[in-house]
Amino acid sequence: MTPAEQLKEEHQGILLMLRILEKVAAKLEAEEKVERNHLERIVEFFRVFADKCHHGKEEDLLFPAMEKAGVPKEGGPIGVMLAEHQQGRGHIRGMAEALERTIEYNEERQRMVRAALRARLEAEFDQ
Ligand SMILES: [Fe+2]
Repeated sequence: MTPAEQLKEEHQGILLMLRILEKVAAKLEAEEKVERNHLERIVEFFRVFADKCHHGKEEDLLFPAMEKAGVPKEGGPIGVMLAEHQQGRGHIRGMAEALERTIEYNEERQRMVRAALRARLEAEFDQ
């Protein structure tokens, strides 16, 4: 398998995960239950495989090779792909931050439920 074929095969894996993400997003919008672990693994896939591994290879090896072959870095496909990579990183950060907020939200909710239960128990024992 050539390096270009390898990168194309990786695109298929990333596209498959994007299709999974679409299904998961539809479930979340419909307020159906989604395993938190699945969301974390999806974010990890995009962060590690899609960005570090795949985009890393493109940025460190493919784009310099394209430049050597005469493709300009600015104002051409390399610039477009670099901008897309930056955009993708923003999306990954957004998903990771949303997950983090969900943890904080759940912890705060649990704390409030515990406080309400404690208040109720104290009220009952005071009678
Ligand atoms: Fe790519």
